[in-house]
Amino acid sequence: MNRAIKWLSFIVISLFVSTAAMADEASLQPQQWQPIQVEAIAGNIPELRGMPINPQLQLPASIPEDANETVLGYLGATDTIAFLVYASLFAVIALFIIFIIVNGISRLDDGYSGKLIKRWSGLSISVHWLGAIACMLLILTGLVLAGGRLYLEPSMNQSSWASLVGLSSGLHELMAFPFILGYILMILMWAPKQIPASYDLKWFAVLGGYLNTGKKHHPDAGFANAGEKLWFWVFALFGGLMVISGLTMMFPETFVVTKNTANTMLLVHIVSTIIITAFSVVHIFMATVMSEGGMSNMTSGYCDENWAKQHHNLWLKELKQQA
Ligand code: HEM
Repeated sequence: MNRAIKWLSFIVISLFVSTAAMADEASLQPQQWQPIQVEAIAGNIPELRGMPINPQLQLPASIPEDANETVLGYLGATDTIAFLVYASLFAVIALFIIFIIVNGISRLDDGYSGKLIKRWSGLSISVHWLGAIACMLLILTGLVLAGGRLYLEPSMNQSSWASLVGLSSGLHELMAFPFILGYILMILMWAPKQIPASYDLKWFAVLGGYLNTGKKHHPDAGFANAGEKLWFWVFALFGGLMVISGLTMMFPETFVVTKNTANTMLLVHIVSTIIITAFSVVHIFMATVMSEGGMSNMTSGYCDENWAKQHHNLWLKELKQQA
């Protein structure tokens, strides 16, 4: 019994000490989303003061590594970065709404047939939502980190702003892991279905037949159409850059990251975020609103035969040949 109490006290005290040490360390971390004033000091122990309202990083007079001026210049344009990150979400949503009002959605020419065809397995659906939900939370929390200081803080009091930033940065780091798992599985499982084909160019030429010009176009498409393939490969490339840059910033000691590399990784992270966010908005609109009958694919795993005929004719033909 005595032994158990000793162990319990040891665990509680260790937890307490390590939490206190982490909290202390956290208050010394320069935040990537805040401009930091670097001041030369006489001693040679870096010291960070004035967090979080007016952060100042005091460094020895000779900084061991020269900062890359170009990268610093881009990162210094914090207002432009904030604007582009917010525009990649809100401006793309606004443009898509205008497009739908002017053009309308793509309806099934012959309505629903009632005949269902298996399109995605249960595993694919789970992997999709694992990556997608994490991605959406990363985008939302990323908005706070990238531009909250400019767009949110002025209308908030100091303590709500501090809580929002704390919550967002914690959730952002936490969501990175389900996102990475979803990302790796989606790429490995789905890449074979997303290989470009010659008929994809024709699909782009008529914008997949989504423009309601009066004349109906239903360009050839296999399991994935050209638009979906474009999204998949953009996601593979920029999602991958997002993961690599995010991990190097999250574990600088493991990856032996210098401040210069961290700055470059932050820039790569921001550019990838802007591209992934804009494409995600288009993807979500296409799945939920634009293509009648498309949403059930990722909920039940089945699509209507008329939807397959209209949007993925070559895949349907192949399925019928196999049957
Ligand atoms: C509310 C949010 C979302 C909805 C409603 C949604 C819906 C869908 C649907 C219905 C499909 C199947 C399309 C088909 O069968 O042809 C799909 C596929 C896919 N989704 Fe999502 N999705 C969402 C968010 C995301 C996010 C955030 C990501 C990125 C992590 C993502 C990545 C993908 C990929 C890579 C595919 C396969 C390529 C394709 O078919 O377009 N989705 N999604």
